[in-house]
Amino acid sequence: MESIDKNFNTTDRQLIYEGYNPEEEPLREALCTLGNGYFATRGAHESTTDDSIHYPGTYIPGGYNRLESNVRGQIIENEDLVNWPNWLPLTFRYTEDEVWFSPDTVELTTYRQILDLKTGTLTYIHEFMDDRGRKTRIESMRFIHMGKRHLASLRWRLTPLNWSGDIIIRSALDGRVSNNLVARYRQLNGNHLQPLKTGYSTENIIYLKVRTVQSDIHLAQAARTEVFDADDSPAAAKRITRQEEAYIAQDLFLSCRKNHPLYVEKVVSLHTSRDVATSESIYQSTNSLVKAPRIDTLYTMQKRAWKHLWERFDHRVEDHKQTQKILHLHAFHLLQTISINSIDLDTGIPPRGLHGEAYRGHIMWDELFVFPFLNYRLPVLTRSLLMYRYRRLDAARNAAREAGYKGAMFPWQSGSDGREESQSIHLNPLSGRWVSDITHLQRHVGAAIAYSIQQYYQTTDDKEFLYFFGAELILEIARFWCSLAEYNPDKKRYEIKGVIGPDEYHTAYPSSERQGIDNNAYTNIMAVWVLKYALKTLDILDTPRREELCEDLQLSPAELQLWDEVSRKMFVPFMEDGIIAQFEGYDQLKELDWVTYRTKHGENLRLDRILESENDSVNNYKASKQADVLMLFYLFSSAELRSLFERLEYPFDPDLIRRAIDYYRSRTSHGSTLSRLVFSWVQARSDRDSSWKAYEKALVSDFRDVQGGTTPEGIHLAAMAGTLDIMQRCYSGVEVRDDVLYINPHLPEDLHELSFRIRYRSHWMDLTINRTSLRICFEGGWGNPVTIEADGERFTFSEKGSKTISFT
Ligand code: BGC
Repeated sequence: MESIDKNFNTTDRQLIYEGYNPEEEPLREALCTLGNGYFATRGAHESTTDDSIHYPGTYIPGGYNRLESNVRGQIIENEDLVNWPNWLPLTFRYTEDEVWFSPDTVELTTYRQILDLKTGTLTYIHEFMDDRGRKTRIESMRFIHMGKRHLASLRWRLTPLNWSGDIIIRSALDGRVSNNLVARYRQLNGNHLQPLKTGYSTENIIYLKVRTVQSDIHLAQAARTEVFDADDSPAAAKRITRQEEAYIAQDLFLSCRKNHPLYVEKVVSLHTSRDVATSESIYQSTNSLVKAPRIDTLYTMQKRAWKHLWERFDHRVEDHKQTQKILHLHAFHLLQTISINSIDLDTGIPPRGLHGEAYRGHIMWDELFVFPFLNYRLPVLTRSLLMYRYRRLDAARNAAREAGYKGAMFPWQSGSDGREESQSIHLNPLSGRWVSDITHLQRHVGAAIAYSIQQYYQTTDDKEFLYFFGAELILEIARFWCSLAEYNPDKKRYEIKGVIGPDEYHTAYPSSERQGIDNNAYTNIMAVWVLKYALKTLDILDTPRREELCEDLQLSPAELQLWDEVSRKMFVPFMEDGIIAQFEGYDQLKELDWVTYRTKHGENLRLDRILESENDSVNNYKASKQADVLMLFYLFSSAELRSLFERLEYPFDPDLIRRAIDYYRSRTSHGSTLSRLVFSWVQARSDRDSSWKAYEKALVSDFRDVQGGTTPEGIHLAAMAGTLDIMQRCYSGVEVRDDVLYINPHLPEDLHELSFRIRYRSHWMDLTINRTSLRICFEGGWGNPVTIEADGERFTFSEKGSKTISFT
């Protein structure tokens, strides 16, 4: 891996940027986002606003609003994850007629930006000189409180280095914001907020309240700004409060003395009408500030909250400090997006975190890559995120019915109420053309939900979840697959037509007007798996619940019989050489001239956009955006696949996996950050070297913004969590089957030792894996005894203890 030490240059838990570089700001802002699972704010400098360089966005999980836009005469509607008022603004100037300080208005002699992963803080250290020769140093530190989810803090230590005199400090709450981050969406309406009220509750507490114009979510922010001298006594300051629509600021007039620092403390509180245990949001925000302690105390609590999180979420990768540093960054951003603070928020996994506005914060299938990691660390969080789906089961039922199917058809992109939120047209930035978007035909999202429930249940044995929620979801998803499948008497098989596979590029046959492609192998095999698992789920449930569900859902024996039949007679397309075809007819497509395209456009290609801009279409080529067929090997072991193939009465050649990987490897453009992740996983056992190379690329997806400008629009949460999960489940060989936890490591050559903690069925255990041994330290818990098998040896743990297994 190319060195990352330029940025991680002191300790392994700090991301450090030296110098101010406006061009790099959008990426830094995304990577330096702070959050606590309740809200998050991009790492924009507090003295800046939305302009061509900076974008201080603030987001809350599930905080959506829908708006209509007129695109060239066509009215379209989109639901966005709203950018809420900016709570950061803090700046100063010397006199009324001078400009306000920002990194863009002074001559910086020192500028260092530090994201501290251990404590969840963002620090800027700047020294600068203005045009009158005054030199000033500001150390700024902020955090969004992991332990007190409504609170955030920002502190300045401002030291006049060669001058004494008066200054004006301005602290504000700014609701004059819109959704404006993603250039492709800028022609669409992004004005989601209506200002409701500004004011002050006490001399030092100001507030601002807004609502979303359609979804009517109310959000209030309050800010308490105080200034202290070096001896901690309040600095005498005259205050003037300025209010305009959607904006409130306090100007504090102070005197400074050379080399005597002033401490400016801004503590902010944010409450919404979506909270539980709440009253009105201005009342809650101002009241929590009256009670909030000073920043020092809040900071001590913040450090403690993160310390506890790291105890659960750490990874130690010996001899691979670079990998370890990036894994820390990935765990950090995952926990800032969803955490215990999100548990009552009715949110799913936003693919781009709470770090930007790409994909409008919609919930897609990315949870498939995130939940398995959480299942072994904080399973209660997976449970609450799965409830996001359960609450939208009726919407999915309605969608299926309206489309002429039965069961539950979950949307490809889901937002507030569970309807399909995929855009109907999108702008291709390369051609400047608005093109029709039918990616909602990715019906496979429902299978991902069923698979996630199975994984969660298998890992946790949470019978109550399966009993009351999970089983109903699985049965309704299975019912949908059965109704989507059509019997083809010629083939004597069932088929699924007119869909789009995970690849996303192939939306129709060449020159065809008909939408979608037929018999996407991944979709069909997932449908088989869901139907089979649904039947098994009915067996797992006790008789009263099985009868209850069959009665409620009106599931007849004949319908179950049909599920069984479809799950045995689904069509799977193969190519001449026996390799699974991505979809029926894939082998008839043209080969792409990969060398020419890669030479011209680089390693990770968005071929859909490139070819459309050349008046061609990616539909014409054997070219995938990301792993599609290979997803099957990502989700299922070879034994599980064999059993599915046997059920379908298709031959299963174990070498098929290797040949399929080789075939699709040379036809994949890696236009999604999920792609390398899957390639790394599927090659882990057969080609360790290639697996590790793909892993290293997946690892730097965001850190290096490898997709060329997508990270500034939001991090790629699934790739982040997926890289953690590869360590946790793939290289370590951690897997639960039939109530046994198997640990069969298979480390890549480059990886010498790996250790981490997992939580399995209410027990914590610490695993240390190297080439010669596996050590399990069982921390003792309060769950039932668990069975573990490693290297063919089976044992049961119930209490504190440890075991070392030497590999032969
Ligand atoms: C991928 C999808 C993914 C989405 C959000 C797209 O580029 O093709 O599979 O769900 O990004 O991460």
